[in-house]
Amino acid sequence: MAKERTIYVCSECGSETPNWAGKCPACGSWNTLKELKITAGRTKNRQVSSSDPEIRPKRIADLSLAEELRFMTGIPELDRVLGGGAVNGSLNLIGGAPGIGKSTLLLQMCGAVASNSVVLYITGEESERQIRLRADRLHVSGDQLYVFAETDLDRIVTAIETVSPDIVIIDSIQTASDNSVQSTPGSMTQIRECTMRIMRLTKEKGLTVFLIGHITKDGTIAGPKILEHMVDCVLYFEGEQDTSFRILRAVKNRYGSTNEIGVFEMEANGLRCVDNPSEMLLSGRPEHASGTCVTCVMEGTRPILAEIQALVTANPRNNASRRSNGIDYNRSAMLLAVLEKRGGLPVANCDTYINVVGGLYLEEPAADLATMLSLASSYLDRPVGDDLAAIGEIGLSGELRQVSALNQRLSEIARLGFKRCMIPAGGRERAEQIPGLQLIPVKNVRQAISVVLGKGERQVEKSPHQV
Ligand code: TYD
Ligand code: MG
Repeated sequence: MAKERTIYVCSECGSETPNWAGKCPACGSWNTLKELKITAGRTKNRQVSSSDPEIRPKRIADLSLAEELRFMTGIPELDRVLGGGAVNGSLNLIGGAPGIGKSTLLLQMCGAVASNSVVLYITGEESERQIRLRADRLHVSGDQLYVFAETDLDRIVTAIETVSPDIVIIDSIQTASDNSVQSTPGSMTQIRECTMRIMRLTKEKGLTVFLIGHITKDGTIAGPKILEHMVDCVLYFEGEQDTSFRILRAVKNRYGSTNEIGVFEMEANGLRCVDNPSEMLLSGRPEHASGTCVTCVMEGTRPILAEIQALVTANPRNNASRRSNGIDYNRSAMLLAVLEKRGGLPVANCDTYINVVGGLYLEEPAADLATMLSLASSYLDRPVGDDLAAIGEIGLSGELRQVSALNQRLSEIARLGFKRCMIPAGGRERAEQIPGLQLIPVKNVRQAISVVLGKGERQVEKSPHQV
């Protein structure tokens, strides 16, 4: 009989060690090693012969070029993130914090696809009645939509065999348990074993499966690396608890790009796709306020406008604190240093807070200029103007560097009614003239601040925060 042995797997990096330790020997994270029971030993008498016709690697040119078959999920933003619809026979994982809307999203998808396909929604979290009530609220119905409340994997597999669905939703992987595995549901061992069995079933039967996975407080799905290796797509559903915006992001996609994001709004009767994220993200923007500036970032192929807010206040105790939400902390520290040294604003002894409105996370350096302007605007307590947007990367010498997809960004900025846009001087020739949008090319940070905030060096010295 195969022997069971215990190994320890790091929930951060996925590396395995035979002994438990407080610190992962591979990545150095603390308290991340989790127990995993595996069955050791090989099946006896396994004969592999060189004459086996199935063991024949093929030449790459002889492989089939047929495209993977996709179907539309009926939720355009989900299709976009999946790379143009879901792929038949794929295993997809949707992760997110509890209450973010994963079950809602997939139940809405069930409603949309149940007219063409047989769908089985397996829930280990709610009762069948609760699902029915939610489906009624979301106006989801369909003769081909089946619901089954179960956590036992053997019974789940049997239900799949009975119904023979095309699409299966498992809500959630943490509640599923395999009786042959001596471990509690939700543990690393259970999650791995259950996902492996589901994966085999998916490929054998050509099912399309959506697994729901809760993420832990530190922002990772329990046993994330183990799951990520096994599934075809990993999507994360994000958003802030106090806003209704939700963003769906792909972190792995075997059938498409991982750049695209899907934007949703949670409403009283479910999630609504937001076709026009810029408009939504800018709604409720304060008028004539200082410490805010709009930029345009590319999320995949789509330009999205984002508002960056900053608050700069004097800290007389010389222990300035820096907070940033929505942009990388190191990037914001660099921008503050450049603002001080090249922009001529002494912000070293100021507390600074930066926030990107709407829960967006800006990874692109193209947002640098707007971040810098909102910091300068807050420091000087002068608005940059409601009709101004800014795009440009900032270098360590305070110079403005060019950005990609300039014209696409400019048209989005013009479409949302902005009248002026500050761009790097180097991009002037490339920029198309858009009627109604005045371009303000600038070379460096100091020029940018003096153009829109109207402050030369002398006036800067008289600023309210200076001692
Ligand atoms: P849910 O899909 O249950 O979250 P998850 O499966 O990710 O844990 O979403 C729960 C939240 O969504 C809950 O706080 C209520 C809210 N909600 C709405 O605002 N409108 C709706 O129509 C539904 C179904 C949920
Ligand atoms: Mg749920």
